[in-house]
Amino acid sequence: MLIRKPNDIPSSEITPRSAYERFMARRKFLRTAAGAAAVAGAAAVGLDGVTDILAPRTHAHAQTKLKTVSSPLTTTGEQLTSLEDVTHYNNFYEFGIDKSDPAKNAGGLPTRPWSVKITGKVKAEKTFDIDSLLKLRPLEDRVYRHRCVEAWSMVIPWVGYSLSELINQCDPLPSAKYVQFISYYDRHVEKWSGQDATIFWPYSEGLRMDEAMHPLTLLTFGLYGEMLPNQNGAPVRVVLPWKYGYKSAKSIVEIRFVEKQPHTTWNDQAPSAYGFYSNVNPDVDTVPWSQKSERRIGLPFWQQHRTTLMFNGYGDQVASLYKGMDLRKYY
Ligand code: MTE
Repeated sequence: MLIRKPNDIPSSEITPRSAYERFMARRKFLRTAAGAAAVAGAAAVGLDGVTDILAPRTHAHAQTKLKTVSSPLTTTGEQLTSLEDVTHYNNFYEFGIDKSDPAKNAGGLPTRPWSVKITGKVKAEKTFDIDSLLKLRPLEDRVYRHRCVEAWSMVIPWVGYSLSELINQCDPLPSAKYVQFISYYDRHVEKWSGQDATIFWPYSEGLRMDEAMHPLTLLTFGLYGEMLPNQNGAPVRVVLPWKYGYKSAKSIVEIRFVEKQPHTTWNDQAPSAYGFYSNVNPDVDTVPWSQKSERRIGLPFWQQHRTTLMFNGYGDQVASLYKGMDLRKYY
């Protein structure tokens, strides 16, 4: 973004197994003696770049395996984007604007202890700590397409359960028409200060109540069967596969039930470009990006091109939410 600008298979088995195993083997190799020896050797001959390549990548907290069940809501059997790309090509502006910045800078995000406040139009405000959220419902492996407004896409095996499961525990009042998500922000943890902090942060996103209750809306704790790496929004985020990625707020500390459409970060920055709904829509461009097609990250360039699908291909499930709305106006 610009500042101006087959259903019952666990995720690790949907990944072409050979690719997944190659990745795991490589990771193990880099962390063990061979890696250490190579680093020592490189240091001895002064090859700084080599030490960099061999340094363990930042997957803070990410190696914690999660106990998961398969989900009938896995929505695509397409080839998964590699764990390496999913965790090193990120947007998490609190930690920098380059795609590689979050993996480098988000290590200091304090993900334990962590709690999520439930506030606003609810019978009684309350707080869930992350361990109680992790235990609230069985964690499902769900493979979704992930489409950024910058016209790139991935296929990611997330871990979580429908946000509706949590909302059902929150007793929202009838006046709760929207749900707002507020991300963690601490000026002292943030590594990037190129933006006026008082304007941009904390990151805020929102949904209409029926969107929030839709079964595809995923309260997400992990990916590739492990806890979320910090750069992907640890320890808890939302994922909305039919909307542009910026709707999927990371590192959530508060879920607020509100009567009126809440303010949202990118809409505040440029309302004519980034609408509140932000449903993937090939017919509405987002200057400077045409939304007619997308680039699938991680594939050879001659295989990357994809024609973008309305609602990112989730129309059968979600189009009814927008019946009667002019989607050119409510973009
Ligand atoms: N959440 C917060 N708090 N801060 C951000 O900068 N970026 C959004 C979204 N959630 C963002 C955020 C954007 S633009 C995208 S495309 C997705 O996170 C990227 O998620 P990923 O890095 O896990 O692919």
